[in-house]
Amino acid sequence: MKRRDLLKAGAPLLLAPWLPGCGSSSSYANGGQTPPGGSRNIARGLHASWTGDPHGSRAITWFTDGLNAPEGVVEFGQGHFSQTVRAVASQAYDIDVLTHRAELGGYDPGKPLQYRVRHGGDSLSATYTLKPMPRGAFRFAHFGDHGLSGFSRLVREGILSRGVDFVLIAGDLSYANGDQPVWDDWFNQLEHLSASVPVLCAAGNHEEKDGNGSAYKTRLSQPGNGRYYSYVLNNVQFVISTGGAFVADGTLLAELLWLETTLAQASLRRARGEIDFIAFVQHFTLWTDEEGRSPNNPTLVLLEENILLRYGVDLLLVGHDHEYQRSHAMAFGQPREGGYVQVCGGGGGVGIRSFSGQSAWSAAQHLRYSFIEYAVEGRSIKAQAWAVDTPELQPSRELTLIDEFELTARSPQARNDSVKPIRDAGSLLAQSGANWRYVEAHTRLRNAQHLKQAVWHEHA
Ligand SMILES: [Fe+2]
Ligand SMILES: [Fe+2]
Repeated sequence: MKRRDLLKAGAPLLLAPWLPGCGSSSSYANGGQTPPGGSRNIARGLHASWTGDPHGSRAITWFTDGLNAPEGVVEFGQGHFSQTVRAVASQAYDIDVLTHRAELGGYDPGKPLQYRVRHGGDSLSATYTLKPMPRGAFRFAHFGDHGLSGFSRLVREGILSRGVDFVLIAGDLSYANGDQPVWDDWFNQLEHLSASVPVLCAAGNHEEKDGNGSAYKTRLSQPGNGRYYSYVLNNVQFVISTGGAFVADGTLLAELLWLETTLAQASLRRARGEIDFIAFVQHFTLWTDEEGRSPNNPTLVLLEENILLRYGVDLLLVGHDHEYQRSHAMAFGQPREGGYVQVCGGGGGVGIRSFSGQSAWSAAQHLRYSFIEYAVEGRSIKAQAWAVDTPELQPSRELTLIDEFELTARSPQARNDSVKPIRDAGSLLAQSGANWRYVEAHTRLRNAQHLKQAVWHEHA
């Protein structure tokens, strides 16, 4: 019996026995309503995101089994289902599953939006409600290294209970590692959060294992090319990088040049007062105190850090190392005023590792399953890290605050100081002291070595 069959039969392999089963998506706070009696819903794994304007558009993505599902349609509106949009279907990587994508627009971005998915006459999903994205203050959550454990579920439930406006998952999503039905399990379990709260992702090294990111690319709907992309939400510009997760496709240098250009433009935007913060998101830590993980690919770290520091990135949100660790403002492995603050949220559910110590740059570190909530208001970002377990790594129904900090926006002078001309590849590499052949080779080596390491420590 395959894993997915076991899950359908109500025997979730990776859920701890103290937690309820994983099949239902209709009974959660802020989740969907039960579809009308008699309907047979074939759409599953619904997730909301955006590919364009975070206020005025929503992408809805879901899956059906087999390759012959009737055309999917999203019915949506505000108070009644007044609009429909047809989905575009394509095959998910290496499995007989169709991915359906629909772009919703033309609604009032200031009001809640209801939607449901239909395939043919008698197949109708639950109805889900998406909150309007605020125009001023907003909140989002971040974690990485998710998987399918009971702790993964507690992280999702904790985020739902906090009522954030969207979620960033910093890579290592399903840990399918080539077993494609695991992706279906993962999206099915994510649905109780992702159908009603937009989720955007960065790619991790475990995403490489599925056709060098082919599952990731064929199952998510994200801005730009879906791998590295950027969006401005109110006063924050988010820049999402692969961090070299898909180095084998030969596009890492092009991505680094895109980062150089995008961050230069973001820095200029911040100096003009159009935004207050630049948040950079990728899977990989630049610096870590996880045992056996540091230094983490120093050639690429130095190159990335050169770009991040040049343009004054404020916040660096990562995963990869399976713990919570937050830095002081830092640069080149040392505390430095005006540097970036790195937040590692790698306690998203798959496992917890251990620290080898605490470096001078580390402001807080905990071996806990957790997520981080960020409240952006004016020129301040207040962050709270919430653990979903006990100090003994047992599941907890209560959220425990394990860290909090505040980041204030840079001064006008500091903003101006970060406005710099965009460099070409030669200047970028020369100023970083980087030899591209080594950067690429070391990145391949990092991905290969880290995939060989133990994925999790069992605590349950
Ligand atoms: Fe991981
Ligand atoms: Fe990782």
